[in-house]
Amino acid sequence: MLIPTWLSSAPALGEVLLLIKATNTKRKKLVIGNWKMHGDRQFNATLLSDILTRWNSENQVETVICPPYPYFQQVIELIGASPLVMGAQTISEHDSGAFTGEISGQMLSDWQCRYVIVGHNERRRMQHESDADVALKFLAVQRAGLIPVLCIGESLEQRESGNALEVIGAQLGHVINAAGIAAFENAVVAYEPVWAVGTGKTATPEQAQEVHAFIRSRLGSVSPRILYGGSVKAHNAAQLFQMPDIDGALLGGASLVAEEFVAICNAAN
Ligand code: 13P
Repeated sequence: MLIPTWLSSAPALGEVLLLIKATNTKRKKLVIGNWKMHGDRQFNATLLSDILTRWNSENQVETVICPPYPYFQQVIELIGASPLVMGAQTISEHDSGAFTGEISGQMLSDWQCRYVIVGHNERRRMQHESDADVALKFLAVQRAGLIPVLCIGESLEQRESGNALEVIGAQLGHVINAAGIAAFENAVVAYEPVWAVGTGKTATPEQAQEVHAFIRSRLGSVSPRILYGGSVKAHNAAQLFQMPDIDGALLGGASLVAEEFVAICNAAN
């Protein structure tokens, strides 16, 4: 039988699989700004306009803004066709129903969100979200066709008693048990040591790299982007981004200052 030339020169299945893996391992840098409960219409308008004025059009980093829910409409209008995309700070684990005050994945998807943060330490501590709750939220994000950003991280006490990796492994383990490792093909993990969030104390690049490598090892051949979060600023971002397993940052305070935010995105480029 004559084999058409396009087929005879096509790569074998093994080569295709290797190619897919090579493409997967090239992880595009990602910077997410978590505005938390900050901003108002005036502040948001000024911040986004400053960010877009300073934006370097050559920048290849993927950039996400997570505003408080009431400002979704405003943020969507202001970011328009710019490279910025919108994400949410949390989600309900339910798809619909009598859950006063909650927001479903379908609603977030309707609002053109692409990413949803789950398991942020502020929600784990202040809203008492358990590992089981976080796993349900992770599943809800994926059911809505969105990308979960799973936050995990140890407290100062846990680090000082030498239990950081054990705690992080357990937090990750709950989600792996509920969703399966393959679910991480379409997810982002954010390592946020509780002691570094909003404190001005950043993990050293080596401390962060150790945890990121550990998280990656727990996920086997699946290799999602793993972000570092906790007092990332323009002056320390570049060193963190140079580490082989740090694929970007989850920002709090620095996402509210246009100059800092854009400088961090440039450092990730
Ligand atoms: P800071 O950057 O203010 O430390 O906050 C990090 C954070 O919690 C992002 O979700």
